[in-house]
Amino acid sequence: MISEQNINMFISGTTKLFVIFAHPAEQVRAPTLFNKKFEELGIDSVMIPIDVPPSHLKDCVYSMRGIKNLRGGVVTIPHKVEIAKLCDKLGAGGKATGAVNAIRFEEDGILHGDNFDGIGFVAGLKDYGHLLKDKKILIVGAGGASRALAVELISEPIKSLNITNRSFEKAKKVVQTIKSVRQTNKINAIEKKHIDYAEYDFVINATSLGMKSDDSLPFPIISLRPDCVVCDIIMKPQETKLLSAAKRSGIKVHYGKHMLDYQVSFIADFIGAFKT
Ligand code: ATR
Repeated sequence: MISEQNINMFISGTTKLFVIFAHPAEQVRAPTLFNKKFEELGIDSVMIPIDVPPSHLKDCVYSMRGIKNLRGGVVTIPHKVEIAKLCDKLGAGGKATGAVNAIRFEEDGILHGDNFDGIGFVAGLKDYGHLLKDKKILIVGAGGASRALAVELISEPIKSLNITNRSFEKAKKVVQTIKSVRQTNKINAIEKKHIDYAEYDFVINATSLGMKSDDSLPFPIISLRPDCVVCDIIMKPQETKLLSAAKRSGIKVHYGKHMLDYQVSFIADFIGAFKT
């Protein structure tokens, strides 16, 4: 791990600055990860945590626009939605979710934000060899995670994407939002009572069910085809009850942690972190 002493050795007047907005900031992992990479690649940059309470966020972001060597950064809890509102420009993930996990200060003073959860999820699926071409996909859940995944999955050459949710109105809203961001007629909301689980190549849990040990399964495993892939977005625990049940039935699974792991390089590209 990089030591404080090492960081001090390479910070100089030419050092470019990246931040991570958080509150509290003690738990953030991005500075360790990025600073290690800066050192490895010999890049004259540093990432520091910015612990800013929500009441000061707007002033903080506004004044940062004037810092010439500040390129941008990572955004985490609880600032993802509020920083999205302060952005002048949003990418597709940011538009679909109304939340950003990375921002960059562009040279013309524009603050550009985006959400990379969906991009990370799709990159993880592909890297694990799961082909998406002509596949039928079902997302269970209609919160921010569902929107993030839907906006990226729909731009892949899939056959169709259905969204279902306990509150059906929310599923319909997700579909409406995705259609406003991407021109598509491949996405539809489906009520639980009309779902035939055997139709799907991928079924994705995008609800919060699975975080607690006494949570029920978000959907039944029994009706899935043996060649279906069951995906979860829950990261803790890694092995949710859903994924354990799917594995016991001989069904392939895809873990929630991949979504996060695979988005780091996209965030780094977006904020220009590893450019020399
Ligand atoms: P996130 O932004 O992380 O996706 P969220 O916006 O709170 O989180 O969304 C949580 C999702 O889990 C919603 O789809 C929610 O369903 P409702 O919209 O009907 O509330 C779903 N969810 C949470 N608890 C659930 C439960 N007990 N049964 C079914 N769905 C549940």
